[in-house]
Amino acid sequence: MQQLDYSRIPAHIAIIMDGNGRWAKSKGLPRTAGHVEGVATVKRITEEATRLGVKYLTVYAFSTENWNRPTPEVEALMNLVLTNLEEEIFMKNNVRFRMIGEIGRLPQSVARRLQECMDSTAANTGMTMVIALSYSSRWEIARAARLIADEVRNGTLQADDIDEDCVSSHLMTDFMPDPDLMIRTGGELRISNYLLWQSAYTEFYFTDEFWPDFTEESLHRAILAYQQRQRRYGKTGDQITDEE
Ligand code: FPP
Repeated sequence: MQQLDYSRIPAHIAIIMDGNGRWAKSKGLPRTAGHVEGVATVKRITEEATRLGVKYLTVYAFSTENWNRPTPEVEALMNLVLTNLEEEIFMKNNVRFRMIGEIGRLPQSVARRLQECMDSTAANTGMTMVIALSYSSRWEIARAARLIADEVRNGTLQADDIDEDCVSSHLMTDFMPDPDLMIRTGGELRISNYLLWQSAYTEFYFTDEFWPDFTEESLHRAILAYQQRQRRYGKTGDQITDEE
């Protein structure tokens, strides 16, 4: 931890929290027990990210494809979201809460709770904690294309003005910068339809640890690995060194 450079903490960390089911299985527990432990990890990591000065933390809690899981598991996950969105903790830590994803597809009780949390924390000025729920990047990009097409059709946007900034501003992530660091736990080496457009220049960090085993120290290790990389954005290493 002493090795961390506090002046170069990634502003936006995105996390694919994988391995809850395997964690539970390895302990002879039902998969849902892994999700319960996963929520405890979300709380610990959110608190540590706040302490480190991370500005945006985006966690992938439920993908569009996760709707295909067995109904009892989907219900258990929705229930965990419903019972663990704690406004008092957000308020105490000055955290602004946001969700990205297809809110209309979620159970009404969950959608209402999410909206309440977004509204009541909207003026908080500390870290923004974003939960991706019923989210997939391809769905989000197709949605952006539809919104842009509508604006061209009604004359508020010229087709020639569609550039990268225009596309970015029609994504659900329009209120935050692209992720600097993306962490995936659970040993798989893929990004599973998460923030595809936004991660063009993101640094990736994969770890075999299951999400419930991911600790504050694991987060420090990921940030340290990030800090040891040189982000070139297509330029040469010499150009970057000259700029510094
Ligand atoms: C991946 O593990 C994890 C999920 C699909 C769910 C993660 C969701 C939470 C931890 C709940 C978040 C809630 C709040 C309030 C932040 P997996 O089930 O795919 O694990 P496996 O790959 O080992 O089967």
